Amino acid sequence: MASIYSSSISSLSAKLTLTPPSNRHPRFCCSLGVAEPQAAISTEPLLLNAVRGKEVERPPVWLMRQAGRYMKSYQIICEKYPSFRERSENVDLVVEISLQPWKVFQPDGVILFSDILTPLSGMNIPFDIVKGKGPVIFDPVQTAADVEKVREFTPEESVPYVGEALTILRKEVNNEAAVLGFVGAPFTLASYVVEGGSSKHFSKIKRLAFSQPKVLHSLLQKFASSMAKYIQYQADKGAQAVQIFDSWATELSPVDFEEFSLPYLKLIVETVKRTHPNLPLILYASGSGGLIERLPLTGVDVVSLDWTVDIAEGRRRLGTDVAVQGNVDPGVLFGSKEFITERIKDTVRKAGKGKHILNLGHGIVVGTPEENVAHFFEVAKGLRY
Ligand code: CP3
Repeated sequence: MASIYSSSISSLSAKLTLTPPSNRHPRFCCSLGVAEPQAAISTEPLLLNAVRGKEVERPPVWLMRQAGRYMKSYQIICEKYPSFRERSENVDLVVEISLQPWKVFQPDGVILFSDILTPLSGMNIPFDIVKGKGPVIFDPVQTAADVEKVREFTPEESVPYVGEALTILRKEVNNEAAVLGFVGAPFTLASYVVEGGSSKHFSKIKRLAFSQPKVLHSLLQKFASSMAKYIQYQADKGAQAVQIFDSWATELSPVDFEEFSLPYLKLIVETVKRTHPNLPLILYASGSGGLIERLPLTGVDVVSLDWTVDIAEGRRRLGTDVAVQGNVDPGVLFGSKEFITERIKDTVRKAGKGKHILNLGHGIVVGTPEENVAHFFEVAKGLRY
């Protein structure tokens, strides 16, 4: 069969020899090159097979924030529908935007276009996402009385458009990729609703944590049970794996992570695994180098690392049970095509064979050239262990 992979990645065909084969560490005993594309052997998406530790010929690849922001086709939709809430709460727009990167790049994961804050209005926390400013919470939660007013989330009543969109996406993508749902983790959601929006020093949530911990714990508890329900709902409607974003957990020192984030992540995972034992859960926290050993304690299936960690070291520190996702610096996508190719190969080689989802270490940055994103996917999909 003629290779569909263009000459732009021909440099990859020179096979890389990695660490010498060893029976004790079979994960690190492969060569990496471009092989002939093969027909899918399994009916399950590659991403699910990789997470489950099945034999795969290459790492699956998708990019955080692949939908929206940098895509011209998204900006055209933004001109017509300037409100983020409308774009993310209208089924047709959600489906169209989620499918934009799928149609152009064919990633192995298709993430729902939505936001971690989307459930908030259904929890009686009014918010908006304002262009140039980011999230705005109109009445920040600061007291026990404010926490009282926060309602438990009922996804089927509050966000039926999410379920409908996931069901349509699942049909459209047809197992050629995995449909990915996501939620915000309790601490990260709490940081937005207590701070009133994005924050630099997280002083308000820390004031609450360190002076009225019980108040914060009752808010975190509400988010944990609500997000567990939300994950179950997304899975029932079509999501094949769900990523939990605890983007700001690493603002906590390890001892505070153990008090204000870890127990709630565990609670979510335990609750979801009771009803959906086979649903892969991915955990992302940016800047998590200091917390790596603690992240698998949550019980998730995959830990997503940012680029400040050497992925081979990260993998050793995570242990063998958990799969790893990441972790190319999003800034690499501003480099030359050759540089992008080298960094992909380096990351895949360091991550080792199997149980790896190739991704960036955080979301794609606005302004990233789409042709570089195309190159990233082309190279990544042409790799073979
Ligand atoms: O492609 C995808 O990854 C799916 C879509 C997605 C969005 N937000 C759409 C969005 C996802 C997965 C998120 C998650 C999210 N939202 C996180 C966790 C991931 C991370 O970056 O750590 C966080 C912290 C938020 C909160 C949020 N939403 C912020 C801080 C902002 C403004 C700043 C920014 O990053 O642009 C948003 C707005 C937002 N969410 C946009 C998009 C495409 C940009 C606004 C727009 O397009 O109008």
